[in-house]
Amino acid sequence: MTRKLWKTLDLLQDYLETGFSREHPEIEVREVAPDPASLLSSVAAEVAGCTRCALSISRRNVVPGEGSLRPPVLFVGEAPGEEEDKTGRPFVGPAGKYLEKWIAAAGLERAACFIANCVKCRPPQNREPHPDELAACIPFLERQIGALHPRVICCLGRIASHALLSTSASLGELRGRVHARAGIPVVVTYHPSAVLRDQALRAPVWQDLKLLKTLL
Ligand code: URA
Repeated sequence: MTRKLWKTLDLLQDYLETGFSREHPEIEVREVAPDPASLLSSVAAEVAGCTRCALSISRRNVVPGEGSLRPPVLFVGEAPGEEEDKTGRPFVGPAGKYLEKWIAAAGLERAACFIANCVKCRPPQNREPHPDELAACIPFLERQIGALHPRVICCLGRIASHALLSTSASLGELRGRVHARAGIPVVVTYHPSAVLRDQALRAPVWQDLKLLKTLL
């Protein structure tokens, strides 16, 4: 009886550790927990074929996001703009060039971080994403967060902050403190495009980057 019990436990451990049965190696008994690379590529593949909202009609390319699979920081923007729609890469236009300066100021490299958006397709004329478009697309971002486990999430602007923190509070109210999403610290700052339009926002962004650095 004891031998049978140990054998069963042994087989169970085998299943849990490898996802395969040693006695019947041809049978996969469960799905092995996928690694971040495969989780992210399955999100990217779904995004590529997504028709959940009307943005799929006007987009040229989807922009799922890019970066390190174990990022210290996940930067989350609003939605792709013209350059991003052309290239399929996030933050590669003027706002992206400016964001790269912020990343460097925080002592980081762009390639070491992950950059994504709330909405993966460009809204026409760069309008704000509509609530139904956000609702359709946020589950992709949630799956990316689950796969990446970033040390910190940095929300760029109001749309990302509201979407990830489920609030309608102003950026002024949300900045300057550490929030949490799924157990991950979240900081909020202005969107790089907003700061390019209004240089007075540079000083508060610097404060926000200092707060971000304390969490790394
Ligand atoms: N603005 C965003 O919010 N995201 C991008 O990828 C580019 C500009």
